Amino acid sequence: MLVHLVAGARPNFMKIAPIYRIAQQYPNVTCRIIHTGQHYDYEMSQAFFDDFGLPEPDHFLHSGSGSHAKQTAKIMIAFEAICETEKPDVVIVVGDVNSTLACSVVAKKMLIPVAHVEAGLRSFDLTMPEEINRMVTDAISDYFFVTEDSGVKNLKNEGKPHDRIFLVGHVMIDNLFHQIEQIKRSNASLFASQQLKKRMGAYAFMTLHRPSNVDKKENFEKIVHAINIISTDLEIVFPVHPRTRKMIDRYGIQFSDRVHLMEPLPFRESLFLWKDARVVLTDSGGLQEETTALKIPCLTLRQNTERPITIEIGSNKLAGTSSHSILEAFQRVMGDTGDDYQVPSMWDGKAAERIWEVLIKELGR
Ligand code: UD1
Repeated sequence: MLVHLVAGARPNFMKIAPIYRIAQQYPNVTCRIIHTGQHYDYEMSQAFFDDFGLPEPDHFLHSGSGSHAKQTAKIMIAFEAICETEKPDVVIVVGDVNSTLACSVVAKKMLIPVAHVEAGLRSFDLTMPEEINRMVTDAISDYFFVTEDSGVKNLKNEGKPHDRIFLVGHVMIDNLFHQIEQIKRSNASLFASQQLKKRMGAYAFMTLHRPSNVDKKENFEKIVHAINIISTDLEIVFPVHPRTRKMIDRYGIQFSDRVHLMEPLPFRESLFLWKDARVVLTDSGGLQEETTALKIPCLTLRQNTERPITIEIGSNKLAGTSSHSILEAFQRVMGDTGDDYQVPSMWDGKAAERIWEVLIKELGR
């Protein structure tokens, strides 16, 4: 069975790593990695391949940055040519980035089965490009691998065949647990941020890159106002995404000197920092789930989330995007005991195994 495993942007790499690793246990499966090149800087891409022990991609599509249409079109043209030559038996796409949409559409039109990992999540907010990517990909996928109950419910509501929906848990949590073991074995002094971590004592960890939060000056300033106030209580470590860096420079955004801005971090060093944070502030999808898995308090700087289980049973809280709502949520989280935080039942490090069991049963010959 020839499988194309597609990844393009930073949040995809942690999801393909466990799928690729478990594929090696099946001698009849050839799993080829297609890197679309949506993210291309060393810190946004190769650093993650290195941390995860992933091999060089079999194909690198050089899509690069650009408008959504240009980026998606470039990926589609390049991926179509590869599918024409290699004729994979199934294409696995993960998450909700432009590469996910582009490659699922190409494969489906060539009558190649599509498996979507992290299917069914919905924010019901069509101003988010990722929501459009999720809806389009799920509209045409053949196999839906789902991380939480809400995804099953959404797919059923959309009329998807029940026997193609598989609640398997979360490959990103497989990767998280695997990486924690690697950190335990590695030498912490290898991390440049180790001294800072030691010196700070209690601290917060932050990531911020959603276009709705950083692209408009007014929105960005409201968040930073709250962050600077929070930093009087807790120093904040802030690895800065390239989109956010551009906007900081463009708008002349000022941070308190208790907010430590740094370059984007490789996965393992980032985990080394946030796993011991007093609280994580983020607008990322993945960190809402990863913090839930480790029961670290998380404030999500958004109005909605497509990952409701992290709020219903996990350690996540929606903090909104106004200065007032963020500060209010911060006070609430600092008063939490954390006794009622729970981890979703199948987030146990075995999701990739479950995915392969299904795919082999459905498609293996
Ligand atoms: C993309 C995904 C988003 C994901 C995020 C994680 C889509 C629609 N968006 O958004 O879902 O949460 O990745 O990072 O698929 N840039 C670099 N180096 C790189 C990559 C990008 O400098 O390696 C710059 C680009 O020039 C651009 C900015 O960063 O100005 C943003 O990149 P872009 O790919 O447009 O979107 P992301 O915000 O990264």
